[in-house]
Amino acid sequence: MIYLRNTWYVAGFADELPAGRMLARTLLDEPLVFFRRPDGHVCALADRCPHRFAPLSMGLLCDGGASVQCAYHGLRFDGSGTCVHNPHGEGVIPKAAVVRAWSVVERHGLLWLWAGDGAAEKALIPDLSDVTTAPEHATIRGYLPTACDYRLLADNIMDLTHVDYLHPTSLGNGSVSKARAVVSEPDERSVHVAWRVQGELAPASFDAHLPTPGQPADQWTEATWTAPCLMRLDVGATPVGAPREQGVRVAALHIATPEVTGRTHYWYWSARNFAIGEEANAHIKPMIERVFTHEDKPMLEAQQRRMGAADFWALKPVLLRGDAGAVRVRRKLDAQIAFEANR
Ligand code: FES
Ligand SMILES: [Fe+2]
Repeated sequence: MIYLRNTWYVAGFADELPAGRMLARTLLDEPLVFFRRPDGHVCALADRCPHRFAPLSMGLLCDGGASVQCAYHGLRFDGSGTCVHNPHGEGVIPKAAVVRAWSVVERHGLLWLWAGDGAAEKALIPDLSDVTTAPEHATIRGYLPTACDYRLLADNIMDLTHVDYLHPTSLGNGSVSKARAVVSEPDERSVHVAWRVQGELAPASFDAHLPTPGQPADQWTEATWTAPCLMRLDVGATPVGAPREQGVRVAALHIATPEVTGRTHYWYWSARNFAIGEEANAHIKPMIERVFTHEDKPMLEAQQRRMGAADFWALKPVLLRGDAGAVRVRRKLDAQIAFEANR
C-alpha cells in the first residue's frame, strides 16, 4: 500500500517497551524490532537479519541493551543498524551487514516513528499532554489491533453519528444524528468536525454525572483529525446555558497506524474531568472497553470483509450529512499522498 511518508506514526505506548525487552511490531508493511539503549533512547530496526533473514526480534539484547544479537548465527547490530560484532572467521564485518534503522521519538507517553527518508521533523509531533498527563484514575487507555484499513478508523471517529446506532445504550442517545456537522480545516494537516446540541437529554454516560441528571443539557461532540491518522475528541455536556467548564467532559485520543494492508494498530487514551478515582475508573473502564471491543471492532472488521480489497471510492459510497468530516479527511489524506508521489 502507498502511505503518507513524511510524517510521524505512533508505534505504541511508551510503556509497551520496558528496558531490556524487544518489541516486534509491523508498521506500514515493515516488520520492525524496537528496543531501548541503556541511555533510554528507543531504537527501531528492520526486523530481518541481512545474513539469512532471521527476525532479529528472536535474538538477544547485548552490550547492556545497546545492541541485538541475531539468534541464528550471532551477528550483532547496534541501534543505528551497524554490525558491531561478527563471531565468525577473523571477525571482519562484511560491508553488506547493515540493517535499516528508523527514527523514533518518545513523547507524550507514546513512541513515534518517522516514516520518511529525510530528516525527522520533531516539530510535527502534536502536543497531546492534556490527555497524557491527566491523573491515572481519570484516564482509560488501551490497544486494540483491528483487521481493517486504518481509514475506516478515521471514518469511525470522524463520523460520530454512529454512536446513536452502534452504542445506543452507552455513548449515544440519538442527539448527535440530529445535529448539523460543522466541518472546518484548522490547518493544512487537520480536519475538525463539530456537532452541537442544545437543550436535549445527554447520553447515559454523561447524564449520570451532571449536577441534575435527567434534565436537558447542552452538548458538544468535536473531533479533530491530523494526518496521518490521529484523532482527538472533545465530548461533553453541561447544564443548559452553563459554560463547558461547569460540565462533564472527556478529551480522548484515537490513534490508528497501518500494520499491513487490511490490518491496523489502534490505541485509545481518554481523560475525564469527572468520576476521578480508582473505583470510578474500575466502573467506567469495562464499559468503554466493551463498547470498543464488542461494538466498534466487530463492525470495522465486518465492513472490511464486505469491502474486500476494493478501493473505497470505487465502491461509490453513499454520502450522508453526518459524514462530511470523514469524507474531507479521506480527500485530504489522498491529496497529501498524491503530493508526495508527485514531488
Ligand atoms: S541469520 Fe542472522 S546471523 Fe545468520
Ligand atoms: Fe464507536
